[in-house]
Amino acid sequence: MTGPKPATPDYAADLFSDEVVSDPHPHYAALRDLGSAVWLPATGVFAVARYDDVRAVLGDAETFISGEGVGFNRIVNDLTKGNTLNSDNPEHDHLRSIVASELTPRAVRGRADGVAEAAQRVVAAAVARGEIDAVADIAQAMPMSVVPDFIGLPTRGRERLFDWAAAALDTLGPDHPRLESAFETAGLQVQYAIDVAQGGELLPDSLAANLLTAVERGDIGPEKCPVLMLDYLGPSLETTASALGHLLVLLARHPEQWELLRAAPGLVTAALNETLRLESPLRGFSRIASRETEIGGMPVPAGSRVWPIVASANRDPLKWGADADEFRIERNPVDHVAFGYGVHGCAGQGLAKLEIHAIIHALLAQVRAVELVGEPVWLVNSIANTFASVPLRLVAA
Ligand code: HEM
Repeated sequence: MTGPKPATPDYAADLFSDEVVSDPHPHYAALRDLGSAVWLPATGVFAVARYDDVRAVLGDAETFISGEGVGFNRIVNDLTKGNTLNSDNPEHDHLRSIVASELTPRAVRGRADGVAEAAQRVVAAAVARGEIDAVADIAQAMPMSVVPDFIGLPTRGRERLFDWAAAALDTLGPDHPRLESAFETAGLQVQYAIDVAQGGELLPDSLAANLLTAVERGDIGPEKCPVLMLDYLGPSLETTASALGHLLVLLARHPEQWELLRAAPGLVTAALNETLRLESPLRGFSRIASRETEIGGMPVPAGSRVWPIVASANRDPLKWGADADEFRIERNPVDHVAFGYGVHGCAGQGLAKLEIHAIIHALLAQVRAVELVGEPVWLVNSIANTFASVPLRLVAA
């Protein structure tokens, strides 16, 4: 992607290379030092890395629009056009009222007991197993035990959901060597969404079945179903798995924080927030400037692609203090932007928080110590900040 180069600082590194996505934080710090908007010639976008600027961009959905796609390549932006994530008002509010109607706090609260029981089972199985891969056995096992049923997916195909979800997030990145195979894998997810929606396979009383009801009522056209299914399939699994994987690694690496949590279970929500702040599951989606504008005084021409990096905003020392890179659960950073901000702020955050809460409570009930038994392995991905595997032991309480 190319674009005009204005009078803003440049940063030469390719922020989507395998090396950088595996260790991005020194680069985010350099971007924050350079200014409010920084031109990335390798990608052809303006990076926005400071907390206040990221909030300002995400909070102004008329200037910084999503309807031209929030990814970094034309193919993915064309393919996903017209779902909730990739739309602007008035269409966005209409779609969101349908997609999020069963994700309201009240609707999600109704699932709390089932989620809590599932979490206790997932942790009990992990404790019994001894050494585990925390990614497969907890981080993925938790959302797998509630989300597919909630969405209404048939049992067939569930074993591929995580591969597809990670690949789908990777397809949002710019043209890079991983892109072709990511598209191949993510294409299977799209086909699956079409097949289950058209084949009458969706479970009743589910998020997806609700979409079909909206079609029957005439609220949306039938052609919208597969693309709106992607609103559910894309962000609902890998994001929560990322948060849970990071939570376990952070607790293992900071036993004093684990002891603090055990001594003061009232800090559960604070621990959840601090995990999402420090290791934001999504680096950030992009926007297009709908008009000539400025970000923190830096000029941004109309039509530019702009990248508010939430993972960087969440580590900005100007917002969080000099110890922004440290895991400190008592910080309780309630205004982190890991779920985004503004009209596109995460529609599924109630469900994600419920799952993460439930796992922390299950750990507190069943586990004395969380120990790494090997080095975590990163999953190389343009958008997701997540692990491929985490060798771990949960010592029974
Ligand atoms: C820890 C877990 C999660 C994280 C960190 C996360 C993060 C995000 C972020 C950053 C956005 C904003 C994107 C933007 O502004 O362009 C978003 C939007 C969205 N998320 Fe989540 N998400 C999570 C879990 C979920 C779950 C479980 C679901 C569904 C069940 C979900 C459904 C959505 C939807 C539908 C949108 C689009 C909202 C809109 O455009 O109005 N997310 N998420």
